[in-house]
Amino acid sequence: MIPVLVTGGAGYIGSHTCLSLVEAGYRPVVVDNLCNAKRSVMGRMSALAGREIRLHEVDIRDRRALDRVFADEQPVAVLHFAGLKAVGESIARPDLYYANNVHGSLQLLGAMEAAGVGTIVFSSSATVYGEPSELPLTESARLGPTNPYGRTKLMVEEILADMHTARPDFWRVARLRYFNPAGAHTSGQLGEDPNDTPNNLVPYVCRVAAGLWPEITVFGADYPTQDGSGVRDFVHVCDLADGHVAALRALERDGGVRTLNLGTGRGNSVLEVIRQMEQETGARLPYRVGPRRSGDIAACWADPTAMRTLTGWQAHRGLDVMLRDAWRWQCWARDNPTLTS
Ligand code: NAD
Ligand code: WQD
Repeated sequence: MIPVLVTGGAGYIGSHTCLSLVEAGYRPVVVDNLCNAKRSVMGRMSALAGREIRLHEVDIRDRRALDRVFADEQPVAVLHFAGLKAVGESIARPDLYYANNVHGSLQLLGAMEAAGVGTIVFSSSATVYGEPSELPLTESARLGPTNPYGRTKLMVEEILADMHTARPDFWRVARLRYFNPAGAHTSGQLGEDPNDTPNNLVPYVCRVAAGLWPEITVFGADYPTQDGSGVRDFVHVCDLADGHVAALRALERDGGVRTLNLGTGRGNSVLEVIRQMEQETGARLPYRVGPRRSGDIAACWADPTAMRTLTGWQAHRGLDVMLRDAWRWQCWARDNPTLTS
């Protein structure tokens, strides 16, 4: 099996991608410092994959440790998920975000170059677009991240493009701009499991559905959208995971530096998410409309054509499957607290 290094592979999207990699005949090796993941995820991932997935508990800013991992594992490519991702925290502590996301990526690129590994799939974000200049968003839309987190993503995108310009025969780069990842593995045994309180809509709705939190606050119902609430392109984490394998294969085949939206091409509103979750759980979900959240945009969804054209990938799972899977994971985690600690 072909070894591939997965930084941040114990996290939400990385762990699901490890399973897609195994299915596709790769041998994922995880590098993660566990700052936002639990060690127990490795056992669950390995059980679901039917083979051991190895963890190197390493911080990507630690160049020496990275060099050792490259020497031990001899990967042919890197999927780079490791990073901090909380927008609010990035505004409060930008230094942490530039150090972790930008400096960490530079250390990783240095280790890759030293080891002769030039293929990288990078987790970027639709957040690089900021306020959308067009809808749906194509990859050539105006860029303008509005917070330090988003700027770290754009900086790394630009660093990767410059590295490719300097050594086009060596670097093969995919910069994947995810829209709003949601859902969980269909087994219910793998999902989003952050070390602190989640801010994102779907995990929040799940916790309210489970009775852990009293109500959902809808951040604004006066946007110029179909029902006044915010609209986003929610994409199933397993579709995203498969998208990484598709992007990796395209890089192996064609090389180049690719910038690709990973979304469904459809927008759903916050109120639609709540209503759909009520259908999945069979329970009424208490919510109230509050003020808009500072920094939020009204609506955002992808034009995923470039990804489909290059790789053949498209998202197959709809909002119903996404929320059903997220709910299954919420119930499993509630019923198995020791297995998710
Ligand atoms: P996550 O926090 O679940 O996973 C990130 C993983 O990286 C965690 O396991 C964490 O422990 C690890 N990590 C962080 N800093 C590290 C470091 N210095 N060294 C080693 N490991 C480190 O997040 P996720 O949702 O799986 O996101 C994965 C990537 O996708 C991130 O780069 C994120 O910015 C990006 N992204 C996420 C979303 C989203 O909404 N989830 C959207 C767009 C882009
Ligand atoms: C979605 C919608 C909220 C919570 C964030 C990051 C982005 C990317 C994905 C990493 C919005 C509304 C939310 C709640 C609500 N991450 N909402 N009540 O803001 O689109 O994107 O995660 O790259 O960078 O900014 O996602 O899930 O936080 O919000 O009404 O309790 O749900 O206002 O309209 P967002 P989200």
